[in-house]
Amino acid sequence: MTGVILVLLLFITLPCSYASQAKNRNNYVEDACSVTRYRNLCIRTLASFSNTAKHNPSIWARAGVSVTIGEAKKVSKYLATLKRNKRGNPFRGRNKIALSDCIESFQDTLDNLHRSLFVLRKLSIREFTSQLEDVITWVSAALTDEDTCLDGFNEQKGNHVKFLTNRVSNVTYMTSNALAIVNKLATTGPECLTN
Ligand SMILES: *[C@@H]1O[C@H](CO)[C@@H](O)[C@H](O)[C@H]1NC(C)=O
Repeated sequence: MTGVILVLLLFITLPCSYASQAKNRNNYVEDACSVTRYRNLCIRTLASFSNTAKHNPSIWARAGVSVTIGEAKKVSKYLATLKRNKRGNPFRGRNKIALSDCIESFQDTLDNLHRSLFVLRKLSIREFTSQLEDVITWVSAALTDEDTCLDGFNEQKGNHVKFLTNRVSNVTYMTSNALAIVNKLATTGPECLTN
């Protein structure tokens, strides 16, 4: 009986400790990204966190959200320059309105992602469940904001639109990946928290 309990205890602590010794370094990021839909993008954008995150799902969650913030900021700046473009600006009429709406959507996206990262940095065992509920809500909202931006350009043509929607879609893929990694943390529970 004691033996069974001991084995059980061993398994409970497995996700944070034992597994990290059993696998090599490159597998860390592949393991973290295994739950995501856009795996190659996930591995490419998160590989540099392998050494610090190892098999700790809370560090991966922070990394996933923070690289998404980085890319969303870049796209947000890019959108702002498109709007400022005066002479021969291809964003006219409906496209101009869509661009302004998109800029607003990206502000909301960034707010939601920043809020999420703030909470992910302050995770506690006692509040874990409600904290993760909030983070999942906010990251999902960020994804909706980005989709709202894309909707504005629906059925609009031209290379300038194509280039913009490609960059925005890229952010949606990263956000989707971050959401999957956050969901994994929620299922794993608070046992791997380092702080
Ligand atoms: C997508 O985002 C990644 C990570 O920031 C970046 O390296 C890549 O160039 C982006 N791709 C597009 C099409 O914007």
